[in-house]
Amino acid sequence: MATTGQNIDTLFLEERRYPPSAEFAAQANAQPSIYEEDFEAFWAREGTERVSWFEPFTKLYEWELPYAKWYLGGKLNVSYNCVDRHVEAGLGTRVAYHWEGEPEGDRREITYADLQKEVVAFANALKELGVKKGTAVAIYMGMIPELPIAMLACTRLGAPHTVVFGGFSADSLSGRVNDMGCEVVITQDEAWRRGTTVALKKIADEAMKDSPGIKKCLVVRRTGNEVPMTEGRDHWYHDVRGSDDPASCPPEPMDAEDLLFLMYTSGTTAKPKGIAHTTGGYLVGVSSTHRYIFDIKPEQDVFWCAADVGWITGHSYIVYGPLCNGATSVLYEGTPDYPGKDRWWSIIERYGVTILYTAPTAIRAHMKWGPEYAQQHDLSSLRLLGSVGEPINPEAWIWYREHIGGDRTPIVDTWWQTETGMILITPLPGVTTTKPGSATKPFPGVDAGVFDERGNEVGPGGGGYLVLKRPWPAMLRGIFGDDARYRETYWSKYDNVYLAGDGARIDQDGDFWLLGRVDDVMNISGHRISTIEVESALVDHPDVAEAAVCSRKDATTGEAIVAYVTLKGSAEPSTAKLAELRDHVAKKIGAIAKPANIVFTPELPKTRSGKIMRRLLRDVAENRPLGDTTTLADAAVVSEIQSRAESESSDDS
Ligand code: PRX
Repeated sequence: MATTGQNIDTLFLEERRYPPSAEFAAQANAQPSIYEEDFEAFWAREGTERVSWFEPFTKLYEWELPYAKWYLGGKLNVSYNCVDRHVEAGLGTRVAYHWEGEPEGDRREITYADLQKEVVAFANALKELGVKKGTAVAIYMGMIPELPIAMLACTRLGAPHTVVFGGFSADSLSGRVNDMGCEVVITQDEAWRRGTTVALKKIADEAMKDSPGIKKCLVVRRTGNEVPMTEGRDHWYHDVRGSDDPASCPPEPMDAEDLLFLMYTSGTTAKPKGIAHTTGGYLVGVSSTHRYIFDIKPEQDVFWCAADVGWITGHSYIVYGPLCNGATSVLYEGTPDYPGKDRWWSIIERYGVTILYTAPTAIRAHMKWGPEYAQQHDLSSLRLLGSVGEPINPEAWIWYREHIGGDRTPIVDTWWQTETGMILITPLPGVTTTKPGSATKPFPGVDAGVFDERGNEVGPGGGGYLVLKRPWPAMLRGIFGDDARYRETYWSKYDNVYLAGDGARIDQDGDFWLLGRVDDVMNISGHRISTIEVESALVDHPDVAEAAVCSRKDATTGEAIVAYVTLKGSAEPSTAKLAELRDHVAKKIGAIAKPANIVFTPELPKTRSGKIMRRLLRDVAENRPLGDTTTLADAAVVSEIQSRAESESSDDS
């Protein structure tokens, strides 16, 4: 738990308090009484108010540990809820997405009526390619409108999807495609990134070589550059786009518990887990949290969740939550600093964004660049800010409030996970007195706690493991195809409670302070990467004999990856080798997993039974005094590594 010490100090020192203003409190969707509502009454009401059902649910939930089901007997369709019903309600002219492409001036305004046509036309194209209820579809795209359109088209047909982030490698894509049994891949020719292109179709081609189950590949044109197409398998979307008449493709009635999508996430082994989310509970959970936590007023707000749709944050709060609520969102294709460091702020000004939701790593990057870029733009439309993905340090929290929020907007620091599907621990902006660095309280209807090592609940002032004590609608329905791993990962440490894998403390007011991961999962720029995944990628290189990976603190990305590598006898450590290994990791997993530092060492510190002593490597990476080394097989190894790490970090500067 790399950040624990720092955060515990924070908890003791942080005394600033930010109660909501009277004006905000008076108009807020969530009023204090929301916390008094009975858990079942709350979720039953949300289930009927947020979502339209073709057939109503007959039972709120069923809890057969460790599996829960929600809204049993209910039938619904996600694309109907996110699109058609808003058009039927006369809201067809409301903007669903202000899309801003990375090349400047590249913009599209998509109303709910447009979205309905696009989703229907896309769903008809998928049908033409043989997609039907139950066909698994992989989506490998950048942030273009066709990405949410493709997802919604899948949900219209009842085809579960897995969206693979466009920064992942061919190996990562084929691994996910094969695990889920996907028959179709949807991709685009290329994506824009910082003025250059990412060859998504070519990477998908590589992946498809290892994915014999893929029958069809649908390609959306984005950059217009030429890409290879395989006759019979690959189809341009513009060639197979179908009718956009909603009557030509009615939404498929789905059971509340039918699979909606898988989202793969890193755990403590090399193989990512396919986290399963189903239809009814997920949609209620994301629309309810979106409404109360972001205080959404769909008729006036412009919501911008500046994440990538390829992660859970984008699924829940760019696509499904906001669209289900009939909200207007911004969808931005590019990076925050292209072509200038004020790009984000120009977007906020142009569309009059009222609510911004982003990650601490982005806030710290803006902090580093300086407040002058935000000052060049009118950000007075903003009325609420959100943070997600990792613990936010109070300094970044205060900077965000002052320089982006004009020292006026509330900040909601929202804790959740791929597995939880929806935000679980968070302030409610009109109710909660916030504290910089604290995610404050469980969302209404959510029962969270902190347990000590032996499974006793710790009281105020105590610290330990974050657990969830009863089910919530958007919770995962397991790990796809791996019941044993599901039970082992989340349900084995304690009886009958969900283990989140995060450390947490509760203060005297009952507010939660999240302290980072307690397992071998690193949090790099708000994204989970397992140490073992990176180690496997390194060892896969022909010159690597052994590798151990850990993280160190990083001022911008939260944590950064440090790899200790032992080369095989014939290979020599060199700067070129270092670059080669970093590239190899990028090729195996994706650029986000590239180690920030690689330390070549003749040996790794091991116990006499041969286990790598990771704790020691973390101490070296953090420049901390070393703890107990008496169980080491060869104590000299550590001082050797320390001296190499020191010379490596001076090279790196
Ligand atoms: O460690 C916690 C951290 O991110 C992990 C979940 O990562 P992922 O499944 O990729 O989802 C990220 C976006 C929901 C958690 O186990 N985390 C997320 N939000 C916060 C956080 N840590 C502290 N504070 C948060 N607000």
